[in-house]
Amino acid sequence: MDFRSAVSNKSFMVVAYLILGVFISCSHTITGAGAIGVCNGGIADNLPSEQEVVDLYTSNGIGKMRIYDPNQATLQALRGTNIELILGVPNADLQSVATASAANDWVQKNVVAFSPDVKFRYVAVGNEVKPTDEAAQFVLPAMMNIYNVLVSAKLDGQMKVSTSVDTTLLGISYPPSAGSFSAGASSYITPIINFLASTGAPLLANIYTYFAYISDPNTIDLSYALFTAQGTVVQDGAIGYQNLFDATLDAFYSAVETVGGANVEIVVSESGWPSAGETAATVDNASTYYKNLVDHVNKGTPKRPGKPIETYLFAMFDENQKGPAETERHFGLFSPNKQPKYKIGFS
Ligand SMILES: *[C@@H]1O[C@H](CO)[C@@H](O)[C@H](O)[C@H]1NC(C)=O
Repeated sequence: MDFRSAVSNKSFMVVAYLILGVFISCSHTITGAGAIGVCNGGIADNLPSEQEVVDLYTSNGIGKMRIYDPNQATLQALRGTNIELILGVPNADLQSVATASAANDWVQKNVVAFSPDVKFRYVAVGNEVKPTDEAAQFVLPAMMNIYNVLVSAKLDGQMKVSTSVDTTLLGISYPPSAGSFSAGASSYITPIINFLASTGAPLLANIYTYFAYISDPNTIDLSYALFTAQGTVVQDGAIGYQNLFDATLDAFYSAVETVGGANVEIVVSESGWPSAGETAATVDNASTYYKNLVDHVNKGTPKRPGKPIETYLFAMFDENQKGPAETERHFGLFSPNKQPKYKIGFS
């Protein structure tokens, strides 16, 4: 599946950051946040039923979910819950949905049929599509088609249409104020940003400080990636950055601003840390990351201080059929037997 290959490609991300941190750990009080959601991936053969998964969200007070395809059983199980949903259009369906009639069918079947019982928040049209991918040409037409169907169905006020991107689109991410899209990505993403600006929709961005760290552990201080650095690590003009998550998100904000998206919000549609399989992938480090991230999101970034960062933790379960990297099978907040791997307060 597209999602599988897209995630494994993250291992090849090369991101240049200047790091001047210190290693001091500290304990955090864990507070819940309405801004937190959890991605519900399902590339596994040992997961609970869709109904049990939805029940696990509810019993843990997880108020937001991202799914990667319109799984009918999941949509059915979400009826009548207050869980807000990011519904994905899989990359493999982009070409089809780029035609108006197929987009109409898709929205009728997967959105209109479940609304208002299911609280749709965003339709994510494509996940981590690269500008060089065959599917890239279909992303914006598919977004526009879905938007037009939602307008006709008078649902455009309730949910927004966007796409989910990764950090490989950024040509410059350091310092964050200089963030910009690469030359190759710019012609792809600029019309998409213009569409988001004109429809009041956010950009969805997948941000993994873990992959940045393991791609360059000699330069990037682990504490900067785990939110445990004490004090400023990167000084960017008047702004001091204490963690790589904020620095990456603000680099995205800078990049989006330069292509006409000054008012476009960015939602973090994936962020996580694996518990096994590679350097730094331990239960303790992952626990530190998730807890500190949940603790952090309500503070906003230095460029958007005080504005809660809507963030979807990746992912609900360890997924035993992902790969090829071993770490890809260890991103779960829960084991397939529904036992939590970490003590995280979601609500
Ligand atoms: C976190 O990762 C680092 C880098 O691989 C490792 O040295 C350290 O032991 C890990 N810390 C914990 C608490 O697991």
